[in-house]
Amino acid sequence: MKGEYYKTRESVEEYINLAKDVSGKQLIEKLQLVLPVKSALLEIGSGPGTDWKILNEFYNVVGSDNSIEFLKHLTAENPKGEFLELDAITLKTDKKFDGIYSNKVLHHLKDDELIDSVKRQNEILNSNGIICHSFWKGKGSEIFKGLFVNYHSASTLSKAYRKYLKILSIEEYKEFDDNDSLLLFARKK
Ligand SMILES: C[S@@+](CC[C@H](N)C(=O)[O-])C[C@H]1O[C@@H](n2cnc3c(N)ncnc32)[C@H](O)[C@@H]1O
Repeated sequence: MKGEYYKTRESVEEYINLAKDVSGKQLIEKLQLVLPVKSALLEIGSGPGTDWKILNEFYNVVGSDNSIEFLKHLTAENPKGEFLELDAITLKTDKKFDGIYSNKVLHHLKDDELIDSVKRQNEILNSNGIICHSFWKGKGSEIFKGLFVNYHSASTLSKAYRKYLKILSIEEYKEFDDNDSLLLFARKK
């Protein structure tokens, strides 16, 4: 079952149920301080679509995921929404965006995959574009429910992002426990 979580209907239903009371509202409030309303925004790893719905109130948001099961759910719940099948590492799209957002998605990438993703994010950003991503704070990596999970610090994130983008801030915040998460903002150079 390695790597299957998020890919089967059962696991997607389980995740939607587990995550039903969590949202990235506090992160999106911070995004609104730096990304003007109506901007073209890509969400990577939209999953259940809770954040997509909030983002959709303010932005021209395109949702995405690499899980067909999540994409089926997103399209069924939001028939007027635009959703792309995108892998966070390769981001194969011709579209360009003023902003790119993800909430607890990029921790599934290995260090070298994160660098490839950042390079590609830079390519699909319009000038002055903003990125906003959240991560689990910690050290090392583990396999959880068969999925690779990479923990980060301000220093590992800075190392991955600073070559391509100008880091604006890396802040700790609370998802479940005090300072268990990191929120990164960066701008196209
Ligand atoms: C922990 S869930 C977070 C979902 C949503 N952002 C939220 O806050 O509830 C991780 C999401 O990232 C997606 N994902 C994992 N690896 C991915 C990849 N390489 N490319 C695109 N999406 C990925 C999963 O399918 C899942 O929807």
